[in-house]
Amino acid sequence: MSLAAAAEMPEEFSFSDADFEALAQLARAEFGLSLAVSKKPLVYSRLARRLRARGLSSFREYMALVDRADEADERLELVSALTTNVTSFFREKHHFDTLRDVLLPELAKQNRIRIWSAGCSSGPEPFSIAMTLLDGLQSLPADLRILATDIDPAILRRARRGSYLREDCAAVPSSFQSRWLIPTPGEPEQVEISQDLKRLISFAELNLICDWPFKGPFDAIFCRNVAIYFDQDTQQRLWTRFATMLRAGGFLFIGHSERLSGPATNEFATAGVTTYRKRALPAPTQLT
Ligand SMILES: C[S@@+](CC[C@H](N)C(=O)[O-])C[C@H]1O[C@@H](n2cnc3c(N)ncnc32)[C@H](O)[C@@H]1O
Repeated sequence: MSLAAAAEMPEEFSFSDADFEALAQLARAEFGLSLAVSKKPLVYSRLARRLRARGLSSFREYMALVDRADEADERLELVSALTTNVTSFFREKHHFDTLRDVLLPELAKQNRIRIWSAGCSSGPEPFSIAMTLLDGLQSLPADLRILATDIDPAILRRARRGSYLREDCAAVPSSFQSRWLIPTPGEPEQVEISQDLKRLISFAELNLICDWPFKGPFDAIFCRNVAIYFDQDTQQRLWTRFATMLRAGGFLFIGHSERLSGPATNEFATAGVTTYRKRALPAPTQLT
């Protein structure tokens, strides 16, 4: 239903400005999500199904529910309803071209390779990384890991399964399709990612605004179309934390509508469209 049509209907659930404010505060504190008041109708339409699913009659009741310590799963449902999982293979292809043409020749000389897909959704991003590495490296170093994390356990289950509609894999180069997309027996529309790729990837649940239980250093971090949901402070903290996780010369790839800002801009040099490279030393601060 369009928002205009929804606006003309009597509201099924009461949703006061105070309820919205409480929800926005929780979304910011727990998930770094930025919810401007202009998003209230959108938030209503996204969360109404959760209220129905839980048999509630108002957003006030919903807020009381998600506040409960034993409702961690509902808080994940909340973040899942407020963000999208949209993703695709070789999305923003220029990042994979940079990975292949600029980073891969360096990686080929290393014994240890670490790449992080932060906010990996249902898996096309880390699988596209794995295909680019397997295709471009003559031989694989023994110590190669792709870490793929997301806040949403349901989407991670889909990622681990690695099963996709064939039509959703159209952007996978045909030579890669024949190597790594295995037809699913009895389901002509379905393919499964081969074990050769799956074994390179560790999928794990992680809220990016909480502590990270690993150290790096990473050669590259893909964090694309995730920070867009975060407020400015959360974004800037995230870019700075990514800088500490990357080796000098490591790459940070971000989404097409995201921009690096804040103190981390001194840590990175621009290396292409929405592509940044960690400097060996921070750039000197400009005196004004
Ligand atoms: C639009 S998808 C982006 C997927 C992929 N990076 C891409 O660009 O195709 C955004 C993902 O970010 C995840 N996400 C949202 N908030 C998050 C948070 N605080 N921590 C970790 N992941 C989060 C969502 O669950 C979702 O899967």
